[in-house]
Amino acid sequence: ERPDALPRDLEGRRVVVSAGGTREPLDPVRFLGNRSSGRQGYALARVAAQRGASVTLVAAHTADLGDPAAVEVVRVGSAAQLREAMHATVKGADAVVMAAAVADFRPAALAQSKIKKSGAEPDPLALAKNPDILVELVKAREPGQVIVGFAAETGDASGDALHHGREKLARKGCDLLVVNVVGDGQAFEVPDNAGWLLGADGTETELARGSKALLASRIWDAVHTRL
Ligand code: CTP
Ligand code: CA
Repeated sequence: ERPDALPRDLEGRRVVVSAGGTREPLDPVRFLGNRSSGRQGYALARVAAQRGASVTLVAAHTADLGDPAAVEVVRVGSAAQLREAMHATVKGADAVVMAAAVADFRPAALAQSKIKKSGAEPDPLALAKNPDILVELVKAREPGQVIVGFAAETGDASGDALHHGREKLARKGCDLLVVNVVGDGQAFEVPDNAGWLLGADGTETELARGSKALLASRIWDAVHTRL
């Protein structure tokens, strides 16, 4: 969709979008990371600004993406930093979209100096669980605030991607969950996205394959009707 063809229906609204993949430090030079490019989150931020919203983009590590025009960008590294930035920026926001790929685990200890290979065999890497930021945001939700989560799902022995999406929506308690069906080169590091938009009200909308900007527009449409 051309920016000038977009409705200005988010004018007067403040929204916060997280994007990219967190990096969990292991020592001063190493981290555990993931393949999130940040493209979907950036598209969400850009489209929201084009529709008139005041937008804060909390950006973890991303591909080399230009800052979206007229968007306040807050850069973070680890899940702990992302968490802090989200709690600080969601106050008074009308909508919050957690498009970031947050590490589930971090190294249990952060070495203050570079880990040397010295000894014979390495120790196994001990991990600690990160807090679930989306669940925290839902718990702290202000009246009328719309909260959107993302999930990249594959099918497995216990059910298909949609089944896992429904369970995740219930577990997280958010208003909307965008389910990306992954596998076959879908979702990661590609320009297009497809999947389902699940609402806590029971609505299930298929998201036809299209650009991340188009998907962003469909997501903001769904947010707008809930504001
Ligand atoms: N999320 C979060 N904090 C975490 C992990 C995930 O806020 N520590 C958010 C993501 O930004 C996303 C949603 O939760 O919006 C779903 O993330 P996902 O990784 O699919 O969910 P998990 O509960 O971590 O489940 P899984 O075991 O499938 O990874
Ligand atoms: Ca996860």
